[in-house]
Formats: sequence, structure tokens, C-alpha cells
Amino acid sequence: MFKQNLKISTAVLAVLMFGFGQVVTAQPPPKDPDRYIPGLGDLMEGLQVQHNKLWFAGDLLNWPLAAYSVDAIKEGIADMKVLRPRYKGESIVEMLDGLTAKPMQDLEAAVAAQDSAGFVRAYDALTDGCNVCHRNHGYGFIAIVRPSVPVLTNQRYEP
Ligand code: HEC
Repeated sequence: MFKQNLKISTAVLAVLMFGFGQVVTAQPPPKDPDRYIPGLGDLMEGLQVQHNKLWFAGDLLNWPLAAYSVDAIKEGIADMKVLRPRYKGESIVEMLDGLTAKPMQDLEAAVAAQDSAGFVRAYDALTDGCNVCHRNHGYGFIAIVRPSVPVLTNQRYEP
């Protein structure tokens, strides 16, 4: 009986302490799923996937797929400008445009012309743009490179 009481009071104490802890370290309530806005890092991961796919599409001369990926990257960047225009209080819109608009234009042109050398040049220029911004924001350790394997293997990259 005493043992059982002790058990119960320990449980009550635990609940009380837990409750107290909750008050002290109160977290904001879960985000409203209808208003969920992905963070910049989440949006960047989408960009990373398309950046990976684009390489294999272009490398394997799958120009329609390359055009699709270029478009997806453009949309991803456009989404960032609307959904996450500021990072740590500063606008990133000008930097996004300044670092990606020209390489994206060149990528579109190279893909339309089915110009492999132009594709590689524009791809590397875009990748440099990614990394310049990362370095400028203290994320130099997020170093984007030409991929060596497709991130997703359940899709064919050959035309
Ligand atoms: C205008 C600035 C800017 C440009 C351009 C930019 N990034 Fe980023 N990126 C950031 C910032 C800032 C973060 C850190 C975000 C965070 O942690 O919330 C980031 C984070 C990332 C991450 C890490 C995400 C994670 O959670 O693992 C990846 C991957 C990434 N970027 C890919 C890219 C790629 C690919 C490009 C180019 C096609 C690119 N970024 C261009 C600013 C930029």
C-alpha cells in the first residue's frame, strides 16, 4: 500500500513537474496547416532536387526534361520571393535576382538551342550563384556542386 502510494505520488509529482516545465519552456502552438509557409531551407531543398535533376537531363541530352527542370527552378525562385522574401530581417529578393536571373536566362537559351557546352556553362554559373549567396549569409558550408549521381533513381533521365 505504502509502495503503491509512493508510486502514485511520484507519478503526480512527475506530472506536476512536467506541467511546470511546459509553462517555463512554452512553445508556440502548432502552425495553422492552412497557413503553413515552408521555411527558406525547405524551399531551398526543392531547388536542390531540381538542380540535381537538371544536370542529368542536360548531360543526357533530354532537352524536354531539362526545360521542365529549368522551369521548376524558376518557379521555385519565384515562390521564394513571395513566400520568404526576407532572411533574418533582410530582403533577399535583389540577391536572388542578381545571382540567378542571368544564368537562368542562359540555361533557357542553351536548352532551347540544345547547346550542351552552353548548358554546362550556364549550369556552373547558376551553381556559383547559389554558393555566392550561401557564403554571403554565413552558409558557405552549404556548397552546391555538379552532382555525380541522381538524387532520385525512380525516374529515367535519358530521353
Ligand atoms: C539569395 C540567396 C540564396 C541563393 C541565390 C541560393 N540560396 Fe540556398 N540558401 C540560402 C540561405 C540563406 C539558406 C539557409 C536557409 C535556412 O537555413 O533557413 C540556404 C540554404 C540552402 C540549402 C540547405 C537547405 C537544407 O535545409 O538542407 C540548400 C540545399 C540550398 N540552399 C540550395 C541552393 C541551391 C541549389 C541554389 C541555387 C540554385 C541556392 N540554394 C541559391 C540562400 C540562397
